Amino acid sequence: MAAVEKRDLISIEDLSDREIEEIFAIADEMLALDRSGPGAQALAGRIMATLFYEPSTRTRLSFESSMQRLGGSVISCPDMRSSSTAKGETIADTARVVSSYADVLVVRHYWDGAVQAMAEYADVPVINAGDGGHEHPTQTLCDLYTLKKEKGDLKGLTVVICGDLKHGRTIHSLVYALARFGVNVVTLAAGGMELPQYVVERLESRYHYNLASVTSKDLQAVVTETDAIYLTPNQPHQLALFTQVDPKIQNRIRSIASGLKFDAFYMTRKQKERMKENGGQRAEYPSLDERFLKERRFKDTVVMHPLPRVDELSPAIDKDHRGIYFKQAAYGVPIRMALLKFLLTRPAAAEGRELRRKAQLYESPEALGPECANTNCVTRAESLSARPRFEIVFTGPGGSLILRCFYCDHQLKVQYVGHSISKRYCPYDIALAATVTEWFQRRELAIFDSIKQAEELRYEPYKGGPQRSIMDEEEIRSAIHQVAEQILKESEEIERLLLLGVKTKGLILARRIAEEIEQQSRRKIEVGEIEIFGSGEGIRRATAATDETEPLALKDRPIVLVDDVIYTGRTVKSALSIIFKAGRPKSVRLAVLVDRGHREVPLKPNYVGKHIPTSEKERVRVKLREVEQDEKDKVVIYSIVTPDHAMEQNEIVAGRS
Ligand code: NCD
Repeated sequence: MAAVEKRDLISIEDLSDREIEEIFAIADEMLALDRSGPGAQALAGRIMATLFYEPSTRTRLSFESSMQRLGGSVISCPDMRSSSTAKGETIADTARVVSSYADVLVVRHYWDGAVQAMAEYADVPVINAGDGGHEHPTQTLCDLYTLKKEKGDLKGLTVVICGDLKHGRTIHSLVYALARFGVNVVTLAAGGMELPQYVVERLESRYHYNLASVTSKDLQAVVTETDAIYLTPNQPHQLALFTQVDPKIQNRIRSIASGLKFDAFYMTRKQKERMKENGGQRAEYPSLDERFLKERRFKDTVVMHPLPRVDELSPAIDKDHRGIYFKQAAYGVPIRMALLKFLLTRPAAAEGRELRRKAQLYESPEALGPECANTNCVTRAESLSARPRFEIVFTGPGGSLILRCFYCDHQLKVQYVGHSISKRYCPYDIALAATVTEWFQRRELAIFDSIKQAEELRYEPYKGGPQRSIMDEEEIRSAIHQVAEQILKESEEIERLLLLGVKTKGLILARRIAEEIEQQSRRKIEVGEIEIFGSGEGIRRATAATDETEPLALKDRPIVLVDDVIYTGRTVKSALSIIFKAGRPKSVRLAVLVDRGHREVPLKPNYVGKHIPTSEKERVRVKLREVEQDEKDKVVIYSIVTPDHAMEQNEIVAGRS
């Protein structure tokens, strides 16, 4: 027999579409398996170890049942808290040791990325049975298989995904797979539990896929909130950008929507254990009952749930033929039998793996370096088992440099870059992309979260080219005044206006504009903050809230998005996607202090402090007194450190000249 290469299943992206189909074909055979025939001994002599650091009924028992039905046996720890973990053993050591006792490990852990980390230390295949709020690929195999069994072909189906889309790992794996198989996905999230931005960005960048989102928390909204429905994958759907929604468009949408069929509702429970204390307590949570399904349009809509359910799914649906969640759980056995057989006996090239990890990963050459933005990431929780490693994404919003955590996929915006040989650093700018790529390829790229970090490692700042001030304190003040005046003039519902500042400088400007409007109108203006990539991805109130769990309302409100500089337009594009996911505003307008031109995305700001056409070699920096110590407000322009300049310094220091 040909040697079988160790093959892990950490993400649903570790399997190609063809391999998923192959697993489904094996699952069909498993359903018809003669339990006394030779097929039932396919894994005889093999041992599977189940390591569950979190509660489980279905996943664990169906895996154990699957292994035994194929003639294999199972070893397990009844409770990982009674294993050496309690004595402080790292997951790396546990993985190493157990992999010498078993032929395959099935692991569930409460940290995002923990199973990936363990797979790196295990000599045998490792299967992810759920890692924190990240992924749950084998549940997705069950989900897809169930859907396929019920509906035939997956392509062109419409699935409404409801509930806690933020913490629900089953959802994350599922949407990637649905996108790949051409299913239309409508999301209906509970307040503050929208799909994480890193998932949305991945769908867009990897699969060119756009989700439809319904923003009311009431399930009825999938019928009434019709503008969600005109979207199909691959189609730009934000018709309402920067315009008031046109009633004619609304009507057209309504007529299209009434013809839409729904093939499945996929409900999920609120993942309380992944929320901070009292998190989400007050948020309205969608629920599904038998009355809702009475509508004719849901005649053929099946109801799915990964289980366990709490109170989002009425037991009255259990008897209805459309409630297929127990069947979905039962398919867990043939699917996991098929998966085990596939991973342990198929001597094929690992094609699916190519989907996920091919690129060179970034690892800091220094003792200090960037940290993953996700506090539940294994690299934060146990760096001994997983050193921070990232995929580098050069085409990030605003031309910024983005790091995507290899373990948990969360994204991080790079602030400072340095060169490890010349020991120089500077803030990252799009004009540095080529230089930084070269440093990265030569493993000389240092990345820092802060100046403090760079200086602790004795890096010195690169000197920029000559600086020129292009706006002074007075000009900035008057620009803000004018923008405020214009916004006030063009706003019909000033009391409902929301100024949303892009973190950090956009927020400062939004606050200043709000103050101006308040003075001019004598009305209180609400200000919010939007973070694109970072620890608190998403939208929140900028003023102290009495109850933080109440999400900021966006629905039907006029919004002005505020940022300091617009250049490529990518930041704004990402901000819009976050806004439209969190709520359907009445309109979104854009205010910026400086417009640099050179847009990559077709966007035009409604309010501009100053137009400053710049060359790509130049850098514009807005300095605001709130964040720059001892500085007055000003906007400066200067040329960037060129690759030649950087290399020159490098050679001098490295003594090669
Ligand atoms: C899910 C899980 O553990 O993520 N359960 C499962 O495996 N079927 C869903 C959940 O716990 O809500």
